[in-house]
Amino acid sequence: MTPLSRRRASPTPALQGQAAAEVRDGAGDAERRAGGAQAQSPGSPPAPPGPKRSAPTPDVIVVDRLTKTYSLGDIEVHALQGVSVTIERGDFVAIMGASGSGKSTLMNIIGCLDLPTQGRYLLDGVDVRGMEEDELADVRNRKIGFVFQSFNLIPRTSAIANVELPMVYAGLRKGPRRRRAEEALRAVGLADRLHHYPSELSGGQQQRVAVARAIATNPALILADEPTGNLDTHATFEVLDIFSKLNADGRTVVLITHEDDVADVAKRVIRLRDGEIIEDRRQAPVAGPPPRYTAHGQSSPSAPSPAERDAELAR
Ligand SMILES: Nc1ncnc2c1ncn2[C@@H]1O[C@H](COP(=O)(O)OP(=O)(O)OP(=O)(O)O)[C@@H](O)[C@H]1O
Ligand SMILES: [Mg+2]
Repeated sequence: MTPLSRRRASPTPALQGQAAAEVRDGAGDAERRAGGAQAQSPGSPPAPPGPKRSAPTPDVIVVDRLTKTYSLGDIEVHALQGVSVTIERGDFVAIMGASGSGKSTLMNIIGCLDLPTQGRYLLDGVDVRGMEEDELADVRNRKIGFVFQSFNLIPRTSAIANVELPMVYAGLRKGPRRRRAEEALRAVGLADRLHHYPSELSGGQQQRVAVARAIATNPALILADEPTGNLDTHATFEVLDIFSKLNADGRTVVLITHEDDVADVAKRVIRLRDGEIIEDRRQAPVAGPPPRYTAHGQSSPSAPSPAERDAELAR
């Protein structure tokens, strides 16, 4: 693989704070909500499945003439200006574009963390418009794994407990929870770091814990907003290899990056400018392995069917 250029110098340390809410201090609204999505408040039962569920379609994401306008007093920011895109199940998409071009805004809508001003968004054939917040939270919990640039791990909490947390809040019992967390950490190459605190892990290892947390619930869709933005070259490729493996195993991956070398691992590159798609380039077929992927024997937890997941939750 080609070396990365323009690496940022040092990894961001694990966020400091006393509690989960504080952990996400400094993160954007979307990160807070994604944290909420994957780590709802203790005691809150898993939200009931939404009534609008339908049979899965090949297109996991259908975005149609999406606009997002932020109003700040008299000023309107047109963050998305009519974006239409379809992402098939099993694709691996890199979203690129200059700062402020609308990448995170688009991803936050795709992740059901935010709603569009206008336009339609179908996730697995289901129109997310009109869903109540608890339904959206349920969709996020069941279908989507989020990874952010700043890891968002809870300090003074072991790697395995960090990975288990979303499953605690989703109501999964201790046995399957621990097994899944161990599997996920093994899948990201951290079987020997289960009981380390974030402060005892390198930046790359912390991000791998965050990836393990995202995949432990077995989501079919992984959304990552600049997941390698705080990593050095070596850690970047370790993390990218994991995303590639997850994609090779059938998960749909959408990641935002500023780096050409990172986008090279994706099957498709979408570039935004001023809230519009200006380039949509396929680098490898949806069916088949991602371009730079070389299998190296590790296995990630296989995605259970919704029925298997429900059975485990009920146990
Ligand atoms: N909550 C908000 N309120 C007002 N304006 C916002 C808000 N979030 C984003 N914006 C604006 O919308 C535009 C798109 O922002 P967005 O975060 O999607 O950009 P981005 O492509 O992810 O940029 P970066 O690469 O810097 O992360 C920017 O002009 C930004 O200032
Ligand atoms: Mg952004």
